[in-house]
Amino acid sequence: MNEIKKTKIILDVDPGHDDAVAIMLAAKHPKIDLQAITVVAGNQTLEKTAKNAINVCSYLGINKVPVAAGMSRPMVREQVIADDIHGETGLDGPIFGETTVQLEQKHAVDLLIELLMGSNGDITLVPTAPLTNIGMAIRREPRIIPKIKQIVLMGGSYQLGNISPAAEFNIYADPEAAHVVFTCGRPIVMIGLDLTRQALVTKEVMDRIRTIGNNASRLFISLMEFFSHTQKEVFGWEAPPLHDPTTIAYLIDQSIIQTKPMNVQIELRSDASYGRTLCDYFGMLHKPANAEVAVKLDSNKFWNTVYETIKLYS
Ligand code: RIB
Ligand code: CA
Repeated sequence: MNEIKKTKIILDVDPGHDDAVAIMLAAKHPKIDLQAITVVAGNQTLEKTAKNAINVCSYLGINKVPVAAGMSRPMVREQVIADDIHGETGLDGPIFGETTVQLEQKHAVDLLIELLMGSNGDITLVPTAPLTNIGMAIRREPRIIPKIKQIVLMGGSYQLGNISPAAEFNIYADPEAAHVVFTCGRPIVMIGLDLTRQALVTKEVMDRIRTIGNNASRLFISLMEFFSHTQKEVFGWEAPPLHDPTTIAYLIDQSIIQTKPMNVQIELRSDASYGRTLCDYFGMLHKPANAEVAVKLDSNKFWNTVYETIKLYS
């Protein structure tokens, strides 16, 4: 039988309800080799996002993957969090039991550098959070740049924002770090709101995943019940967009997401558009593309991938 080709990844998260589902998929799918989980401040403070990552890993039995906490504040701007969406804990809704997983002593930036420098250039970075850890690692040790195989990130938007009219949260929360990442020269796949707002957790999706009836599906339902409520309150969505797991789905099967090469710049000087990913969709600036920007989701393939992966949990 042909051996399954695995993709080595480091997942950088700020759990966060959708980050939790990204962890769920990345830890279990046979095509993903999850080397480490690094945590950053974002949806909530670092203390809370790190605790949430430990709770999710403990609950799902993910105990062979190092989990390290990283940057507690953005590089330059004041800290912003998304407690209106993710709640006071950053993962409101589920009740977790005893933890069986501990945080690494090592700082996430140091773990990123150590793993990348020790690799043969076959590690994909998958940030689904503000890019502070990734930006700081690049600045701390530029020799990691050629060691980064690819960066598949959830962030940005070539259309509407979600934290301001112009900007998406992960970029807005640390625009300077995003600038470091988008100018590092490595291959980037930007999976922004334009794509993730096609990945809707409808009642049909919830009903289908509820039938799985294992711990992972129960966690998914509990997370999404809270997430659906706040997304409706804040945005009026009938079904919430499941942002972060789209990165993992893309790595499992690239045909799930159609991309378009674009030049992407991060707005650092404007007040009103601070943190916008300025995506040159029509190539007007005649500048080289520095990212493949996600434009179209194959929803059936996406939800089948989510469903089949959650079924792999006992
Ligand atoms: O804008 C959506 C992104 O911001 C997601 O990664 C969500 O978890 C929050 O971090
Ligand atoms: Ca996130």
